[in-house]
Amino acid sequence: MARVLVTRHLPDGGLDPLVDAGHDVVQRGDDTPYSHEELVAVAGTVDALVCLLTDRIDEEVLRAGAARGLRVVANVAVGYDNIDVETARALGVAVCNTPGVLDETTADLAFLLVLAACRLASEAERDLRAGDWPGWGINQYLGHDVHGATLGLVGYGRIGRAVARRASGFGMQVLHHSRSDTGMPGYVPVLDQLLAEADIVSLHVPLNDATRHLIGGRELSLMRSHAVLVNTARGPVVDEEALAEALHSGAILAAGIDVFEREPLVHPRLLSAPRAVLLPHIGSASRATRTQMARVAGQGVCDVLAGRMPANLVGP
Ligand code: DGY
Repeated sequence: MARVLVTRHLPDGGLDPLVDAGHDVVQRGDDTPYSHEELVAVAGTVDALVCLLTDRIDEEVLRAGAARGLRVVANVAVGYDNIDVETARALGVAVCNTPGVLDETTADLAFLLVLAACRLASEAERDLRAGDWPGWGINQYLGHDVHGATLGLVGYGRIGRAVARRASGFGMQVLHHSRSDTGMPGYVPVLDQLLAEADIVSLHVPLNDATRHLIGGRELSLMRSHAVLVNTARGPVVDEEALAEALHSGAILAAGIDVFEREPLVHPRLLSAPRAVLLPHIGSASRATRTQMARVAGQGVCDVLAGRMPANLVGP
């Protein structure tokens, strides 16, 4: 049976596909992350690697692994910008991810951020906890209504569409933009137009060269002054400094952010920005979903090692 490195401890039951297939699971006892050097060293000792989005699986790791028989890398995440997929392909190492199983959970969190940011919930709670709430006041914490608002989705894959379904329950008008015409109602071909029309903009694109800093100072300046930006996709899609500036200057009303440019670091100006709801990358963080993500990644490994086509192979 094959040796499979699992870089971190996974939720209970997450290893089941690997264990049931009889693979030898290699894991650290104490759940400390592997350094890059350690990953390079260990990649050449295993047939498969199950990793997290915090593990950088670059050319060095892949070459060290492929030279000694590494056959598959499975990311316990739907996004795979931490993996050099081109090099993996060239070396004949399969790459798998976890599409499908986290759509609804991530959409729930995106909607939480829509609601919390529009209604200034973090700011209000912070004041209350700090003893700074003087009692009910008619001009306090005046946010923006979510019901009836126009939601602009940037990216209209599975998660974007799951957010749209939630929006319909709130009587929202939903617009969406993606690189290719979806042919669906609400499609806006030009991003700038969507930014200018939406009350709330929610990002659902993968991180790649085309989407890095897709939302910067220019784009934020196109948004309405009462608009809210939500990001549950990847941090570098937004220029964090520009977002902090837009919040400090009041160019937009608020933001709900779950992902950051240099996790776990957060730009200090964003930390101090008013009307920002900031969460530590918990979009898919329900027990059921994280367990299912681990299982899907493990199943991808089992399929590749058994010579089957995995359902969750990245790319063509
Ligand atoms: C992903 O899967 O890409 C998320 O960011 C973590 O669930």
